[in-house]
Amino acid sequence: MIVNASVGAGRITSIDDRAALAQPGVQTVISHRNAPKLPYRDSPNANNPDGNRLRVFQDDQVRFFGQPVAVVLASTLEAAQHGARMVKVQYEARQPATDLRTGQATAPTSYARGDADRAFAAAPVKLDTTYEMARNHHNPMEPHATIAQWDGNRLTVWDKTQWIGGTQRELAAVFGIPDTSVRVLSPFVGGAFGSGLRAWPHVIVSALAARLAGKPVKLVLTRRQLYSSTGFRPRYDYRVRAGADRQGRLNAMIHDISAETSSYETFTEAAMAPGQMLYSMPNVRVDYRTVPLDVNTPIWMRGPGYATASFAIESAVDELAHELRLDPIAIRQRNEPAADGSTGLPFSTRRLRECYTTGTREFGWDKRNPTPRSTRDGDLLIGTGMATAVYDTARGTAQAYVRLDARGTALVQSATSDMGPGTYTSMTQAAADALGLTMDTVRFQLGDSAMPPTPPHGGSMTMASVGSAVLDGSDKVRTQAITLAVNDVRSPLHQVNPADVIVRNGRLAVKNNPARGETYQELLARQGRPHLEAIGGFAPPEQNRSSFYAYGAVFAEVAVDARLGLVRVRRMLGVYDAGRIVSPKLAESQAIGGMVGGISAALLEHTVTDPRDGRIVNANLADYLVAVNADVPELRAIYLDGNDPQADPLGVKGLGEVVYVGVAPAIANAVFHATGSRIRNLPITAESLL
Ligand code: MOS
Repeated sequence: MIVNASVGAGRITSIDDRAALAQPGVQTVISHRNAPKLPYRDSPNANNPDGNRLRVFQDDQVRFFGQPVAVVLASTLEAAQHGARMVKVQYEARQPATDLRTGQATAPTSYARGDADRAFAAAPVKLDTTYEMARNHHNPMEPHATIAQWDGNRLTVWDKTQWIGGTQRELAAVFGIPDTSVRVLSPFVGGAFGSGLRAWPHVIVSALAARLAGKPVKLVLTRRQLYSSTGFRPRYDYRVRAGADRQGRLNAMIHDISAETSSYETFTEAAMAPGQMLYSMPNVRVDYRTVPLDVNTPIWMRGPGYATASFAIESAVDELAHELRLDPIAIRQRNEPAADGSTGLPFSTRRLRECYTTGTREFGWDKRNPTPRSTRDGDLLIGTGMATAVYDTARGTAQAYVRLDARGTALVQSATSDMGPGTYTSMTQAAADALGLTMDTVRFQLGDSAMPPTPPHGGSMTMASVGSAVLDGSDKVRTQAITLAVNDVRSPLHQVNPADVIVRNGRLAVKNNPARGETYQELLARQGRPHLEAIGGFAPPEQNRSSFYAYGAVFAEVAVDARLGLVRVRRMLGVYDAGRIVSPKLAESQAIGGMVGGISAALLEHTVTDPRDGRIVNANLADYLVAVNADVPELRAIYLDGNDPQADPLGVKGLGEVVYVGVAPAIANAVFHATGSRIRNLPITAESLL
């Protein structure tokens, strides 16, 4: 059980562990006073942001409230919990800086095209507004947990992680051992939303404790500890200045983005991208600043960067539409680009216009009275709103092992994760389809660093990257089998053109003469082969000749209680252009999950920090509110049929993130339409509406 700092900044002056060690079952208390100095080599390929990562128990400094300052090892969980409460830590505390507004921003990362400042100054219609997004925590159902075990100089770790390879490399770097001496196992994740994308301090603590104890150690973070010991979506201020003509054509946008980070690492994410590419205009400037504070380091959370930027941009476009008396969809269509304005590259596929028209029809958008506060249902003010969603089609280098056995079954392995999107199922589908097997004869395994490497299980890139590697390996094995058959004088397929051989249900046959063929089993048995195997691979092209994004149009209807300010979402529709949909059922689940998450961010989620000491005051699920069944209405998702063959061999564009982006601004825009009140900070609360 970890002991967490109870001050927000300063230095540890003493640690008294005598009372803890006197408790039955307590074996050791480890802190900076008795921990060995660890090598902490640089670990460039483990998702660590720029800076100096927190080095557990290596010094007396307290960098944020809740920082791990000691760990208690005991023979039972209860003894460890009790022992942790008995450790007396004293501090020389100083006032922590935890407020984005009062912190000192670092130099911005900047993007510009044209002269946005001049064009904005000259614009006939101007908008200048700032949007604020609260800090959010991922709150996966299962807490982060690690079991570590040393065998000599070899370390095995069972961990909740979205990146087996990153955790492996980070542990190797911290302990100064080769990557190959660390094995990471994570067959199930139990939800994450991004919180498992790097190895947090408790993973190192577990391994350190196991090394010192000389036996396996299990460490589970409490719900409260998740708030200080893993990352979060940072708090943002996002100022938009937009200049347009009276017809709603945008000429300039200036984006000033400000986000919190820790004092020791600079976390950044793709918050600049939507401002650069979503709408067509000649003049754009984006400045993205981070503000180092006495907090722990943020990390990506579902729809990272894009969700935040889209709340600001999609609210601003809605504000402009209202001012110009334009329909919110019409203003977007008027600014639809022919190519990516940030790179000049053509879009591989961009079907936003279809998303808008399909959404208009299916949601009944046309029936809307455009005047705010014009529709009532008893005491309820009814409004509808929409927003555009966008997320880049990220891809990474991945490999997969594919083995076809003599029994006619297949084993497929790749060191990826399944945090909930259904990786196990979708990879099984991809392999079964390419091998010509039924799904029940294919076994897909993941979550072991001994398996072929993959990129992080994040950024909506698993299906594109790992799926394409699975496809490649399966194609190779199927081709091997066909080659064996057509070259075998005893095969019914002897001398058939390989291109004319298809495989269905484990049987190879001539395309136009299905009676002529044989099963994998028959082929391999006759050949005396125990199996056929291949490593499949995927690597994204080094130079993109197109601009790759997934898109969506999100529609929401809300009811706002005019007397109480309570907002209820009554229905939602998302229409998505996400490339090929491998599994409609899983895609539906992702879209609904994304909408639930977006409703949650729009109306409920807010990590609150006490400015006096940096304590997170609502570090529990009673006070940190997330959407539950009662908050969620009928949700509907439509995916445009099609695929993006340039993106990857499967034609998928990624969908786990884009379905989250755009939900909060669609709701905020609906709240404006219902009430006439423009709420520019998330979450939208009753207080802000009253
Ligand atoms: Mo997602 S934030 O990349 O897990």
